[in-house]
Amino acid sequence: MRELKFYTGNAVPLEMHKVRVVQKLNLLPIDDRLRAIKEAGNNTFLLRNKDTFLDMLTDSGVNAMSDLQLSAMMVADDSYAGSATFSKLESKLCEIFGTKYVLPAHQGRACEHIISRVFVKKGDIVPTNYHFTTTKAHICLQGGTVLEIHHPEALIVESTNPFKGNMSPELLKKTIADYGAERISFVRLEAGTNLIGGQPFSLANLKEIYNICKQHNLLLVLDASLLADNLYFIKVREPAYQDVDIRKIAREIADHADIIYFSARKLGHARGGGICTSNHELYMKMRELVPLFEGFLTYGGMSVREMEAITVGLDETMDYDMISQGPLFIEYMVNELKQRGVPVVTPAGGLGCHLNAMEFVSHIPQSEYPSGALGAALFIAGGIRGMERGTLSEDREADGSEHYSNMELLRLAVPRRVFTLSQIKYAIDRIVWLYDNRQLIGGLKFVEEPKVLRFFMGKLAPVSDWQEKLVAKFKADFGDSL
Ligand code: F0G
Repeated sequence: MRELKFYTGNAVPLEMHKVRVVQKLNLLPIDDRLRAIKEAGNNTFLLRNKDTFLDMLTDSGVNAMSDLQLSAMMVADDSYAGSATFSKLESKLCEIFGTKYVLPAHQGRACEHIISRVFVKKGDIVPTNYHFTTTKAHICLQGGTVLEIHHPEALIVESTNPFKGNMSPELLKKTIADYGAERISFVRLEAGTNLIGGQPFSLANLKEIYNICKQHNLLLVLDASLLADNLYFIKVREPAYQDVDIRKIAREIADHADIIYFSARKLGHARGGGICTSNHELYMKMRELVPLFEGFLTYGGMSVREMEAITVGLDETMDYDMISQGPLFIEYMVNELKQRGVPVVTPAGGLGCHLNAMEFVSHIPQSEYPSGALGAALFIAGGIRGMERGTLSEDREADGSEHYSNMELLRLAVPRRVFTLSQIKYAIDRIVWLYDNRQLIGGLKFVEEPKVLRFFMGKLAPVSDWQEKLVAKFKADFGDSL
């Protein structure tokens, strides 16, 4: 994938792959879209995929596989113990990261479970550039507390800072001074920081944070789930690395972490997870838990076919054409929306395009879940399924009060190699229409609210008949069109 110059007009991101397997899509008429989102309790997690046109819920486990990945899956070595397939995966990870040991796990949060159980004690602190939902849940489950010590600009929605995912070195030093190194389980740095809009850290920042950790004998744990995006951004945004090979960048990142874990639903674009380290003592501590919770040490809950696909996927991640495809599509989407005045997270990150609901529907108070409401409205307007990343994704405080999120985002994920540019253009068109009609969008209220991770299964209802009014306006503007 490269941005080539075009003779006849402005260049667009160009796919450096061709589509050889397809899945038919279904675009329901708008009345059926309204019915589907109501049945789903206005929660896009509860929509059925057959009712969805563009599934932009996540990039997790839904990336397109290559012909090489699929063919590798056919020759997987299906044995419980000592599988040659696991050895291949292990060697590939050690080759890319330069680490000595690999522990398999069924997905990213399983790695978080193991790491948290081993290293987090009750009353501990885990400083991070920004939490991820499952990471925070596992750290809290062990009695720890996550401390966000992000870059000062991390939460500024519209910014020009290329590395909003950086951790603040000053705040890390202050945290160590305030709490004492013995209360810190480890320092966690997340590549392609998910919840602030897929924003990367720079290699310079990682090195600085790692040095501080070493001065205080602290472990640095890297969440590499979104490493592919972060690699791309280091290559194109960090001048010192513009001419450095992606493999070398990956290796340099790995050399500055004590433990690396990842969701292979993102990194390696298949399904699974793993923990890598070169430290034998850390490895032995974590190893004990793998057979207990995941499976034997040569599969850890993963199917051998998926392990084969991850091994090939990791190699593909070292290719600029592969890692640039998602970010360039996202950048296109962000630029087109921005030009039309739609509030989006900038600079464009990895993972997806993030709409800023706080501004998009500024008339909806946070108590009525603006990003959830925008998600429901976008499904009605275009059959597009996004993911709420705001107050709904936070659970209530112990006293039952709302924990208002720092940001109210609607994430429109762009899974790797899945969508065509015309589908992205369609999404842009429907978002712009919705923006021009944003005053019609109203809030949501819970009708069924789970106590933990409520965003997955919770059901909501509109606070008024705003959805019917939105449908009427769509019909007035688009006539018989879907
Ligand atoms: N860390 C990060 C940065 C993630 O984005 C995810 C998952 C995980 C850990 C957990 O991995 O799903 O394999 O257990 N993110 C998905 C998403 C769920 O949609 O962004 P997992």
